[in-house]
Amino acid sequence: MEFDFTTMMDRAGRDAIALDIIPRLPVQPEIGITPIPMWVADMSFETAPSITEEIIRRAKHPAFGYFEAREEYYQAILDWQATRNGVVGLQREDISYENGVLGCLATALNVFTSPGEGVLLHSPTYIGFTHCLEDNGRKSILSPLVQDQNGVYRMDYADMDAKLKAENIHFAVFCSPHNPSGRVWEKEEIEKAMQIYKENNCLVFSDEIWSDLTLTGYHHIPTQSVSPDAKRRTLAVYAPSKTFNLAGLIGSYSIVYSKHLQDRMRKHASATHYNHMNVLSMYALLGAYSEKGAQWTDALKEILTHNIAYACNHIQSHWKGVSLAKPEGTYMLYLDCSEWCKETGETLDTLLHRGYRCGVIWQDGRPFHTPDSIRMNLALPFAQLQEALRRLDEFAFQI
Ligand SMILES: Cc1ncc(COP(=O)(O)O)c(C=O)c1O
Repeated sequence: MEFDFTTMMDRAGRDAIALDIIPRLPVQPEIGITPIPMWVADMSFETAPSITEEIIRRAKHPAFGYFEAREEYYQAILDWQATRNGVVGLQREDISYENGVLGCLATALNVFTSPGEGVLLHSPTYIGFTHCLEDNGRKSILSPLVQDQNGVYRMDYADMDAKLKAENIHFAVFCSPHNPSGRVWEKEEIEKAMQIYKENNCLVFSDEIWSDLTLTGYHHIPTQSVSPDAKRRTLAVYAPSKTFNLAGLIGSYSIVYSKHLQDRMRKHASATHYNHMNVLSMYALLGAYSEKGAQWTDALKEILTHNIAYACNHIQSHWKGVSLAKPEGTYMLYLDCSEWCKETGETLDTLLHRGYRCGVIWQDGRPFHTPDSIRMNLALPFAQLQEALRRLDEFAFQI
């Protein structure tokens, strides 16, 4: 294969929270064991070579003064959105740089809601949203996703509608594809949700940061594409950061078609003086949203599809009392360990600690608002994934 998805990078001491968290864990890995990071949403893969090349090329010009985003930056986004997401009619003016998706959410919350106001989210919920809402003094109102007879997470439209009405909510966060459930929403599902938001006069912050990482057989539908109303009422946010492992460079962008909404967002963002692009992150996006970057993404998606299928099969056939919904996108797996806790009489902490002890740095899923759950990051070389599952078989589940 042209790209390297098999080498396990040694990220220890190399600016990686994925490993730097270890001293702060309640239980330490056994001496001599190599930790395998499987929690925070970045990948144990090298980024695409086209990105490193762009950054190095730019860094060789030793001047990093004030700058404006290049025309190529906008063109790369227009081309990427057209070819990857089938977006038509997008203009340069509809795109704004954002200092992270959560930075954009903070701006939107401050512009469109008041302190104490409720915001509708689906649960399980990505913890970044809950923190952002709390930090900005807004209330999270959760509408739980419900698993259907096949275990697939679905939105509960009646519950969404009732909560929007009961709490007078006019701002919702919609995560598509959804972290941590891994759902890639179907067009009809997004249409129904957007109809409910419309009927309740609700603005929609559509976080599509995971849109590039759909697994084989699934396709991302941009929220703004489902109807003319959805196009106007949605603030959509994208980034190359999840797709290409660039979270440390910062560099998201929003697509807002309504000039009214966009002017208000830009006014607030400019008043903070914080929402400025970093020149290297601009070049990272140029390397990412290129032909080579697209090829790398396609290769990555195959790797993730394989890792996820393997892990799901393994867990379903080996870990009694643990259930899961097979992800359709992202590289996250959300495990329901409630039956395991019941059957063994052990707590989730015990299970988590067993994992840490054998060097598997997985993540407590309870802050995502589901009891007795664990979130696992599967974006790592296959050999390490196998090793992690083997260790968990032996030390956590005693198979
Ligand atoms: C759904 C979702 N949104 C946003 C983020 C973070 O985005 P950013 O780093 O651009 O703030 C993450 C990171 O895991 C995420 O999963």
